[in-house]
Amino acid sequence: MKDAAPQTIYLKDYKPFGWIIDDVHLTFRLHPTATRVISRIRFRPDYEVHDRPFMLHGEGLKHISAKVDGHEVTLNHVEGGIEVEVPHAPFNWEAEVEINPQANTALEGLYMSNGMYCTQCEAEGFRKITWYPDRPDVMAQFTVRIESDAEHTPVMLSNGNGLYYEQDNAQSPAPNISIYQDPWPKPAYLFALVAGDLVAHEDTFKTMSGKDVRLSIYVRPGDEHKCAFGMEALKKSMKWDEEVYGREYDLDEFNIVAVDDFNMGAMENKGLNIFNSSCVLASPETATDGNFERIEAIIAHEYFHNWTGNRITCRDWFQLCLKEGLTVFRDAQFTADMRSEPVKRIDDVLALRARQFPEDQGPLSHPVRPESFQEINNFYTATVYEKGAEVIGMLKTLVGDDAYAKALDLYFERHDGQACTIEDWIKVFEDSTGRDLTQFKLWYSQSGTPEVTVREEYEGDTFTLHLTQSSAPTPGQDVKAPQVIPVAVGLLNDNGDEVLPTKILELTEAEQSFSFKGHATRPIPSALRGFSAPVTLTQDIDNARRAFLLAHDTDPFNRWEAGRDLARDSLIGTIVKGTAPNPDYLSGLKTLLRDDRLDPAYRALMLGQPSQSELAGILHKQGHTADPAAIHAATETLRDAKAKAFADLLPDIYAANQVAGPFSPDAEPAGKRSLSNAALSLLTRLDGGEAAEKQYKSAGNMTLQLAAFGALLDAGKGENAVAAFYDQWKDDRLVIDKWFSMQVMFANPEDLATTVTTLTQHADFDWKNPNRFRAVMGVMAAHHAGFNHESGAAYKVLADWLIKLDPVNPQTTARMCSAFQTWKRYDANRQALLKAQLERIAGQDGLSRDTTEMVTRILEA
Ligand code: BES
Ligand code: ZN
Repeated sequence: MKDAAPQTIYLKDYKPFGWIIDDVHLTFRLHPTATRVISRIRFRPDYEVHDRPFMLHGEGLKHISAKVDGHEVTLNHVEGGIEVEVPHAPFNWEAEVEINPQANTALEGLYMSNGMYCTQCEAEGFRKITWYPDRPDVMAQFTVRIESDAEHTPVMLSNGNGLYYEQDNAQSPAPNISIYQDPWPKPAYLFALVAGDLVAHEDTFKTMSGKDVRLSIYVRPGDEHKCAFGMEALKKSMKWDEEVYGREYDLDEFNIVAVDDFNMGAMENKGLNIFNSSCVLASPETATDGNFERIEAIIAHEYFHNWTGNRITCRDWFQLCLKEGLTVFRDAQFTADMRSEPVKRIDDVLALRARQFPEDQGPLSHPVRPESFQEINNFYTATVYEKGAEVIGMLKTLVGDDAYAKALDLYFERHDGQACTIEDWIKVFEDSTGRDLTQFKLWYSQSGTPEVTVREEYEGDTFTLHLTQSSAPTPGQDVKAPQVIPVAVGLLNDNGDEVLPTKILELTEAEQSFSFKGHATRPIPSALRGFSAPVTLTQDIDNARRAFLLAHDTDPFNRWEAGRDLARDSLIGTIVKGTAPNPDYLSGLKTLLRDDRLDPAYRALMLGQPSQSELAGILHKQGHTADPAAIHAATETLRDAKAKAFADLLPDIYAANQVAGPFSPDAEPAGKRSLSNAALSLLTRLDGGEAAEKQYKSAGNMTLQLAAFGALLDAGKGENAVAAFYDQWKDDRLVIDKWFSMQVMFANPEDLATTVTTLTQHADFDWKNPNRFRAVMGVMAAHHAGFNHESGAAYKVLADWLIKLDPVNPQTTARMCSAFQTWKRYDANRQALLKAQLERIAGQDGLSRDTTEMVTRILEA
């Protein structure tokens, strides 16, 4: 039988801790299987709230001793930790515990990755290291002493500034000692420790007030040549945050460490960011342009947390979007500044539609600020992150750029050193702008994707837009109030000239009309420019109008969107009525592809079309049952039609966008490569793989090699490349992840489950490594036609592996359960197959709290 239902935590139950910490001293005596952690903490009562028992969190700790003011105390074990009898006065806490980093496969707390010690404490991992009030509103200054044996851990790091390092070679075994002190009070989730045989790529940065900061990226020996790009990204981020937000770095050193075993992308620990090696290591030979761009963005993201997350943190985990939404918004601004603003916006909207919309329109839908959870790790979601960032973008649109900058200054000034709430954040905007944001705040509490409709009316010289908004019921929320939706609108004339530059309409009611006078001829609206709100838009317009916008819209996002809408409707027509691809779409797109004045990266995006999964979501919303095979066939038909329609153009585009000279990951050459590779993928449908074969053989960088590899696999001619690629890269873990992924991604739908099963039998399928597990299982779940093949074989493969991984790594298991969130889209047969797998997972003995919560929520709705 399963354990009792896990406890639910509610936002409304928040209570402060009741004690204040003056300082924390930690000593680590590192040992792979028996690390000792000695803590000395000075507590004093928080006299405003001193009515509750003294409770410290702790999980899986082997207790050695605990003293209050020098006297051994008895621990009263309670759910999640201990309660101890303490004086209602300041006191000293001293404790010693033992932990086993080697046995820690969950990768939370102190664990080992390839012989190296490292930590991951967000959200609640510190309690696996020692007894502590492991909650973000308890902030303290930490001093950390690390002791270890010299041979294996020549580098030992923690947060803050290194004070002291000693390597005593006279003794045997030679002990290492390192001491770090962090002057900035921080919550325990920002604690980090790293120790191991690492080498540093070093640099320095002079801050705006003239202080020198030592920068290091620590990697395993052999990876030194993959650090240069990350270091440049770090310096650019530091400079950008000074210039755009006025934020300066606040320690003498800033360290980044790359680790191979990591559940997430990266973590913003104060002064010691820890990165999944896939999110920091890059060389032209091993990383694609996409990898470079992602690395630049993640380095920026974690660095930006130093102010939005660390100096100002969250009061409790319900406020997660306070730091994550804002920091995602900031990293998006950074990428837009470093690269192309429209391309970044389109990429972000694609990601939002691919990840956040399905979440918000299915059983896992929750508000940007959730009100309850069982396991907080399950709420690091696309909604908290991506919709959370969209909400900040809307706020900036509504108040304007200058008011946004002023509000942020006030936020940093008022809340530096505090653990805050969304109320604090909103209040800053209210106080600095004088605006009442009560209704706007609904974006944080109402879940679901609002639907906006636009109807046009033209009478006399007045053009009117009639807007409506509504929102379908979501779990726990049947009825919703109208929200504040900024709808950016521009008006064009028949020549495509702007007769009204972009204007923000504030939609605040269920139905509202906006009139524009003085238009002697009927204008053409371009609505929701720049995707000014995370909504779905329904416009009563025909294909001719869309083709006009595709050719003429002055807003680059909406121009792309017009092509996208044409592609979508063409595909839906093929799926539902069997109609052929829309020729107007193809000819409009062709004109655009020929236009050399347009950024190649933008043209590459134009060549794209909605994914099969997105189409399934749209069909489901329209009341159809999504048939994965029909969806797959329609997308293939459209891609074939593009290849044929652009046959004369593709070789030119391919040739014109080859990049000569040494590799640079900058936006411009990367954009050319993305267009030439998009052309190659279509060309392969015409030449049977000839050009791809050539590119594979001559490729001097991973961007070209991987695209050619994909094209060959897609054409069914990848056999030699599979062997050659493995042979070339067998010693590079990150590239071998790609080798696994590509074979899964390009498997035939009917072969997917067997392809995956064969790959899992490969000696290199190290399933305990999250990157490797995701490279196979995550990519399988994203293979729409294969994963949803009518046999249900892939559903079973995924469930088998999730059941196997859960006891080893609950966090990664639970995250991957979201592959099942869309189960209600499909026919009764598939629903039954999916439900059976979900129930099989749910029925496992000892299933983790993480996975239990996910499968129950998915099954409940
Ligand atoms: N604070 C998170 C990392 C994290 C998430 C730790 C969940 C523990 C649990 C970090 O700042 C983050 O958001 N990382 C993202 C990448 C980022 C660019 C959005 C990640 O790891 O995916
Ligand atoms: Zn973050």
